[in-house]
Amino acid sequence: MNVQPPRQRGVTVWFTGLSGAGKSTLAEALAPRLAALGKRVELLDGDAVRTHLSKGLGFSREDRDTNVRRIGWVAQLLTRNGVFVITAAISPYREARDWCRDTIKDFVEVYVSTPLEVCAGRDVKGLYARALAGEIPHFTGVNDPYEAPTDPAVTLDTRGMTVDEGVERVLAALRARGYLTGADESVDASTGVK
Ligand code: ADX
Repeated sequence: MNVQPPRQRGVTVWFTGLSGAGKSTLAEALAPRLAALGKRVELLDGDAVRTHLSKGLGFSREDRDTNVRRIGWVAQLLTRNGVFVITAAISPYREARDWCRDTIKDFVEVYVSTPLEVCAGRDVKGLYARALAGEIPHFTGVNDPYEAPTDPAVTLDTRGMTVDEGVERVLAALRARGYLTGADESVDASTGVK
């Protein structure tokens, strides 16, 4: 007799895009939606990761790759244990993202494609102004590269799109790939109980 609890299939939703593109906002809106569907959810946000897991790392290519691979490694451990992991780091280099995809396998890449001018215009943290003034070296999109995904599962340009619409697009991609089933959708949204 199988006495193990039924295995939940985990997945990593990997947001990538420029600073200020909207990754964290979308990730934070997606998390409770998945939780309401009865999923165990873990959010690995770029800024939080750099405070803890990657404290002391800078923004050279080597340090960014180390940061992104650490996120990928933790995401892999969680994903294989049935967790729905959401990551939100710039993750500017294709090669490091591809390493994460190959390591995690259950991996859905979401490209938040908000263009540089819009991110710089928003400048939520005031960093673009400083980067454009030459005060921050290696600032992604200004004086450091961002390699856009070639075949993302979802592309979200946050201009003219609400956060809810973006979240729905991601949920649809998860549904299409079999990570959300009809049974999940019947979970009561307010309690998470079927
Ligand atoms: S990543 O390249 O290693 O994936 P990560 O998402 O962790 O980057 O960190 C990006 C955040 O660090 C930005 O949102 C911004 O607040 C801050 N930051 C500080 N310096 C830089 C820089 N040189 N380039 C990009 N972001 C920077």
